[in-house]
Amino acid sequence: MIIKPANFFLLLQLIGVTALSAQPARTGGLKDYYKNYFPIGVAVTARDLKDPAQGALILSQFNSLTPANAMKWAPIHPRENLYNWRDADSIVAFAQAHGLRVRGHNLCWHEQTPGWLFKDSAGNRVTKEVLLKRLKDHITTVVNRYKGKIYAWDVVNEAIDDDSTKFLRNSLWYQICGEDFIAKAFEYAHEADPKAVLFYNDYNTERPEKRERIYRLLKKLVDAKVPINGVGLQGHWSIYEPAPKDLEATIKRFSSLGLKIQITELDVSVYPWEKNRRAMRPGESHDYTPELEQKQTAQYADVFKIFRKYHKVITGVTFWNISDRHTWLDGYPVAGRKNYPLLFDQNLQPKKAWWKVVDFKK
Ligand code: GLA
Repeated sequence: MIIKPANFFLLLQLIGVTALSAQPARTGGLKDYYKNYFPIGVAVTARDLKDPAQGALILSQFNSLTPANAMKWAPIHPRENLYNWRDADSIVAFAQAHGLRVRGHNLCWHEQTPGWLFKDSAGNRVTKEVLLKRLKDHITTVVNRYKGKIYAWDVVNEAIDDDSTKFLRNSLWYQICGEDFIAKAFEYAHEADPKAVLFYNDYNTERPEKRERIYRLLKKLVDAKVPINGVGLQGHWSIYEPAPKDLEATIKRFSSLGLKIQITELDVSVYPWEKNRRAMRPGESHDYTPELEQKQTAQYADVFKIFRKYHKVITGVTFWNISDRHTWLDGYPVAGRKNYPLLFDQNLQPKKAWWKVVDFKK
């Protein structure tokens, strides 16, 4: 008997095969698959939310937002007596309108600071007293404005030095205040909103030497009863790292202090980690090859399996940017090089890694 195409589809329907695509039908977004585990967030700009396609993707996939830049010191508090609330307010309003959580990011960091912050009107470096007063005013004002709307804050970002033989980063915060600025930042944030969940946030947290230096800082804070509730593993990872055992070791080590863990800035670069900016080398590839795609899919599967295993201490996973259409890793640190670190491709479609992340059997 010859089966005509129309009969062929009828036959498939009769035997219960309804989807003919290579992938099963999507039955929800990331947030739905993970609803019994933790919120799934994404870092956004105010502009992203105004774009209908990206806005729709966000609402279908995520239930938490982090302003990617809008709440950093330079954009939100560019002059001593001037706050620029526009973008931060519009991100919080979007979240409120759609019932999404918001993580505030961040209150104290050595980067993206405004020119006035560390200087007096004569251009001299301010004293510790003045700088701590500025820190207190800033934190009180920003945290207060979003009290009840922002449930968690990255209070101090990246205070540990990149040099493994050193402890705290030799930032202007450190040079002027010594290590006190860290505890003070948490105290000011807690005073402003006692209900907010307060995080220390850093990168390369799975590398054993950095893990131990961060642990040392966290332990000091916990022992001194500083109001810190959690630690953010930024999760700027790659297809080469972290190894599953290193990620697990970090989750166990930090949570042994009674702290919650969030993955705050997740992306999986298809290139090895580099810190210093450089030009592309002649012949250097920037193609998303099937081999890179396969490695990235495996890495995403591995890390999410670990997140699920530790869901009692992991209280959130946030991606840094929405899709491969635009990511901070395009051109960074290698000028002109495209990267493909996220779960959605340049057309906002789910990649192979997306399917692995929602497949809990493997
Ligand atoms: C760091 C910061 C983030 C962001 C990323 C890169 O990890 O914490 O705010 O700037 O770098 O975009």
